[in-house]
Amino acid sequence: MDKVIIFDTTLRDGEQGAGGSLNIGEKLEIARQLEKLGVDVIEAGFPISSPGDFQAVQLIAKEVRQPTICALAHADPQAVDRAWEAVKGAAHPRIHVFLSASDIHLLFQLKKSRDEIIEMCRSNVARAKKYLANVEFSPMDATRSDPQFIHQIVEVAIEAGATTVNIPDTVGYSTPAEFGRLIQSIIEKVPGIHKAVISVHCHNDLGLAVANSLEALRLGARQVEGTINGIGERAGNASLEEIIMAIKTRHEAFNLTTTVDTTQIYPTSRLVSELTGFPVQPNKAIVGANAFRHESGIHQDGVLKAPITYEIMNPRDVGLPSSSLVMGKLSGRHAFKERLAELGYSLNEESFNRTFAAFKALADKKKDVTDKDIESLVAQELRTTSEVYHLEHVQVACGDQSVPTATVKLRGPKGEVLADAALGTGPVDAVYKAINRVVGVPNKLIEFTVSSVTEGIDAIGEVLIRIESDGVVYTGRGSSTDIVVASGRAYMNALNRLIAARNKGS
Ligand code: KIV
Ligand code: ZN
Repeated sequence: MDKVIIFDTTLRDGEQGAGGSLNIGEKLEIARQLEKLGVDVIEAGFPISSPGDFQAVQLIAKEVRQPTICALAHADPQAVDRAWEAVKGAAHPRIHVFLSASDIHLLFQLKKSRDEIIEMCRSNVARAKKYLANVEFSPMDATRSDPQFIHQIVEVAIEAGATTVNIPDTVGYSTPAEFGRLIQSIIEKVPGIHKAVISVHCHNDLGLAVANSLEALRLGARQVEGTINGIGERAGNASLEEIIMAIKTRHEAFNLTTTVDTTQIYPTSRLVSELTGFPVQPNKAIVGANAFRHESGIHQDGVLKAPITYEIMNPRDVGLPSSSLVMGKLSGRHAFKERLAELGYSLNEESFNRTFAAFKALADKKKDVTDKDIESLVAQELRTTSEVYHLEHVQVACGDQSVPTATVKLRGPKGEVLADAALGTGPVDAVYKAINRVVGVPNKLIEFTVSSVTEGIDAIGEVLIRIESDGVVYTGRGSSTDIVVASGRAYMNALNRLIAARNKGS
């Protein structure tokens, strides 16, 4: 079976999705988890686009040694040089040069002729090649381009030294049959194509990104690009976990393999969702909360008799935690530590102690503490480890006959205790106003969502918010059995990100 190279662009194309900005520490954390997952290539960023992206690529190149680390550059000498500067410390560096190829882009955006584009491709791929052996080239908007021009530009890129040629469906326009024909024509018509790996990069505007990618792999592409949870520009990118599990589950249909550790899929999905603030829809294939849940009586009966009746994959294969052990208020430190380990967490002693205390407090309110509750407690703990301001205490008075009033107590950057109070239109508004009086960083709340981690009146509530300041969006999350407290924590989380970004000047 041929191996498919898994190219993850969660940190580059995924992060481009509206409101998905990650800080450098978060990018490194995701890159480390992607390494655990076993992806072959991590596209860590677009270094010329911002100092923050440059630093993130540089840091990931230095710290994450197993996979190839790729830096994106548009076809411009400065962008290529900057990509090399950022990625040169990697154990296995790659530069990915891209350039529009469709007449639509040439006419309306770049205002260049096809001859000029060919020259830009040749000179910038050659420039990257002077720095390193591993160079990828992408003709952007390939699926709306003249196929003959794609053949020509791919040939030129290979002549100039590209070792991977990536065919993007940039606007998610293609269909599986059409995309398959384009890949086949490249294999048949481009001289020298055997010298390069054919890659595909599909967007999901028509919901066809995974289908298009799989069709291309079936017909000879050997690298596939995508993101965890399918996040990315507009409707997102091809969802890598879906492609990986399709290859594994239907190996007789594709005769392909990957070297991914599929048991790391679920923890990776959870981490990406947590840090980007993009929730995973419940019915999402592979990683959605309902992906392995059977509701109808007939299905439940079948699965109890033999899982094969209605399950085509073993949930353990994607790393879904087994729920054999129910935790409750009688569970001790040892059992809790073991459960954390089974869920893939290893906390330092301080964090463990705080999370254990939070678990005990929850177990007092809730009979059974589920894996999802524990994940939420750990996520809340991890959010607080790098805080500038910490929300110690929230108290509200509200009701239909009173003016909502909130008092907050915060711990400041030097450990000082800061307190204030405010009135609001509702309890959450009052809490946010009280926090603003202490922190004093202007911003606008643009999104506020509450969801519950599990069913039941005693469930933990999770709040996701986005705030905007100086045109940049910051995401925040918070959880608690009290949704006003969860809202305060989410706001604190978003404000801390804003302050950290300002302190770094990025
Ligand atoms: O969608 C696209 O065309 C891209 C390129 C940079 C490969 O993301
Ligand atoms: Zn893309």
